[in-house]
Amino acid sequence: MSFKQTVTLHDGTPMPRLGMGTWHLAEGRRPERQEIAALRAGLDAGITLIDTAEMYADGGAERLAGRAIAGYDRSKLFLVSKVYPHNAGRGRLRRSLEASLARLGTDYLDMYLLHWRGSIPLCETVTCMQEAKEDGLIRNWGVSNFDVDDMRELFAVPGGDACAINQDLYHLGSRGVEFSLLDWMDAHGVPLMAYCPLAQAGVLRDGLLSSPVVRRIADVHGVEEMQILLAFVLRRDDVIAIPCSGDARHVLANLRVRDIELTADELAALDDAFPAPSDKEPLDMQ
Ligand SMILES: NC(=O)c1ccc[n+]([C@@H]2O[C@H](COP(=O)([O-])OP(=O)(O)OC[C@H]3O[C@@H](n4cnc5c(N)ncnc54)[C@H](OP(=O)(O)O)[C@@H]3O)[C@@H](O)[C@H]2O)c1
Repeated sequence: MSFKQTVTLHDGTPMPRLGMGTWHLAEGRRPERQEIAALRAGLDAGITLIDTAEMYADGGAERLAGRAIAGYDRSKLFLVSKVYPHNAGRGRLRRSLEASLARLGTDYLDMYLLHWRGSIPLCETVTCMQEAKEDGLIRNWGVSNFDVDDMRELFAVPGGDACAINQDLYHLGSRGVEFSLLDWMDAHGVPLMAYCPLAQAGVLRDGLLSSPVVRRIADVHGVEEMQILLAFVLRRDDVIAIPCSGDARHVLANLRVRDIELTADELAALDDAFPAPSDKEPLDMQ
């Protein structure tokens, strides 16, 4: 079976399933030209989805993404950004959105997300999102770091069921979304956008990368462990993943996920080594 390139959003819009994150880019860890080259390597290889946020590098990641996409056909790109919860209300959301658009050098976003839940009532945020959509500044809107109770509440407010996507942390070592949230989202036509699909850094990742099970499966497929982590997240064809890299070689290596189909035995071995939770647990967040 070949890799499914897109998910279809509730309004029929195709959204790419493999994108590029931008958190921790534009923070001076690498020269800017190297990070731009990484994003462009992805764009040139056909990755058209870029995920960013007003929060990342205090707008710097949006600026970097804007420089990376300059000269590319905007209509072929799928740009996602996020508004801080404290900016997700009347007046402020529009100001944040316009600032994000200016930094990205575009006049619309394909998707605008509430970064996480704050104290502004959901109905106010939904109204602002809908107005931005009606005014053509965004094509769709969604949420991030919402668990199943948050989604229920969102869908209960007027217009809340227009939410197109929920972006949550999901990787082999953190499978909390599988307990009840994914089923709920599936039933309501809301795809998952998986962030930290490579478990970012630290102890958790070390455990995954030193796993003999992950190593063995990577060897069989002739790839690195990272691509097996990515293939695990993307094994469901209603999930989108946005691995981040400031290194062009890594961006291109991650593209190999499109050729990996994990077998039932491999998935069972991964399940065994890193089981999904058997009880409801709070969502992991970064
Ligand atoms: N909504 C939210 O609250 C939220 C929270 C966190 C993240 N996000 C979004 O999700 C994106 C992805 O999450 P993330 O950046 O936290 O973590 P991630 O994608 O799981 O991991 C990124 C790390 O993996 C490394 N990496 C990538 N490909 C690699 C490869 N092939 N080989 C070796 N190392 C590789 C990168 O280093 P190199 O640069 O050296 O390749 C980077 O350190 C973010 O960038 C952001 O856009 C959203």
